[in-house]
Amino acid sequence: MNVHDSERMREVLRGAGYAEAEDSASADVLVLNTCSVREKAEQKLRSEVGRLARWKREQPERVLIVAGCVAQQEGEQLLRRMPAIDGVIGPDNIAELPRLLGDLSTGGLPAVRTVFDLDAPRFLPPPRGGSGPTAFVTVMKGCNERCSFCIVPYTRGPERYRASDEIVAEIAALCASGTREVTLLGQTVNSYRDPLRALSQAPGADPEDPDESEFAALLRRIAAEVPALRRLRYTSPHPRHLTPSLIRAHAELPLLPRHVHLPVQSGANRMLKRMIRRYTREEYLARTRALCAEAPGMTLSTDIIVGFPGETEEDFEATLSLVEEVGFRGLFGFKYSRRPYTPALKLPDDVTEQVKSARLTRLFALSEALLGKHLEGLTGSVQEVLVEGPAKAGDLWSGRTGRNEIVHIEGASELDLTGEVVTAHILRANKHSLHGALTEAARAAARQPRARAQGSQARRALPVVNEGPRAEG
Ligand code: 5AD
Repeated sequence: MNVHDSERMREVLRGAGYAEAEDSASADVLVLNTCSVREKAEQKLRSEVGRLARWKREQPERVLIVAGCVAQQEGEQLLRRMPAIDGVIGPDNIAELPRLLGDLSTGGLPAVRTVFDLDAPRFLPPPRGGSGPTAFVTVMKGCNERCSFCIVPYTRGPERYRASDEIVAEIAALCASGTREVTLLGQTVNSYRDPLRALSQAPGADPEDPDESEFAALLRRIAAEVPALRRLRYTSPHPRHLTPSLIRAHAELPLLPRHVHLPVQSGANRMLKRMIRRYTREEYLARTRALCAEAPGMTLSTDIIVGFPGETEEDFEATLSLVEEVGFRGLFGFKYSRRPYTPALKLPDDVTEQVKSARLTRLFALSEALLGKHLEGLTGSVQEVLVEGPAKAGDLWSGRTGRNEIVHIEGASELDLTGEVVTAHILRANKHSLHGALTEAARAAARQPRARAQGSQARRALPVVNEGPRAEG
């Protein structure tokens, strides 16, 4: 979501006549996009602004803006506490960035724009002039859950949904400019409601009816109306809204890859209850089992918090056993950190830092072992890979399988594979990725030779996010 917001800011500024600077030394304006989901992210902002205070002193007409969730959370206080900052802009106010900069350049005082666009939610358009093989498309923003640890409802506001017509049109436009894979974005993406449908819905229709999942209907509509799309992902769903109709969509739509990231947070019912997740371990297991049964070969990844208030050794072991039972092929693990405004502030943060670290280490060891075994098992197989671009190092191409495994492809440096869906023989497994070579059929079908004229666009290194289990922060 933050990567996507940064792209929107870049786009809005380009539209207003700004050009991207190579580095901060040559920049007149610097925008720091921030995350406040954990305390560490917030600390990063403080040290970064400290560093940039010198950048401002060198040329006082330089402008420093803080955007994103810390901006939303702290507002005016940021200006008071950190005088190097000239402007503060929340996630719903990105479109106002040029105006804020304009005001500052004509002598305006440091300003704060952090108002939720509740009445007329804005969903900014994607970049003009093409995008890469993979793209994000926002379908909703905000969050109506009240998970007790989470700051998101307070920094991103209540749920607001985008009309399905607009979503479909945006995906079609992206595909026309070369995008092959789209990830639908939302804080609880599968609680999506179509504002168009709400207008036409019969009075008395039960919005909780599992057969009425408007998210599943959206997936079906995209599949039917955008034939050029090769893969449709979404993130992040809430287990509570993994409805029978969404599970059926996974069984019926080949467009949906066999991978879902489904945050569970804990495997202990006592913790799930305190976290206000509104499902039990048993319900999570039943739903994921149903999903895997309907869509054979499905793999799952997840988010887990360790050291939530009151978490005992037994609770943590329940989490480990859940990870084994589901067989997650990737997980993001976090130490619990207290966040402003959240209901969990009332609970004592009683698991020591040392215990949190030890639990995280055990969790990652288990998850690495599960992933390692899974990747080993793919050696010798043939996988379909959407090539995203050249690998960061070596003369390799990088891409992902439908199940989100990263594949590096050797021996094809003379071809241009960016944006191609190719088949590859898997030769070996690395710790977090696979290494393969094109099949003969894929080699014969590939475009040759590589279109060098595409220059930097084609040679842009693949930003590998999500590569295997991730350490805290
Ligand atoms: N402490 C630790 N981790 C958190 N997350 C959200 N809030 C907190 C918190 N207060 C994690 C959850 C969520 C992911 C994006 O960040 O696991 O799914």
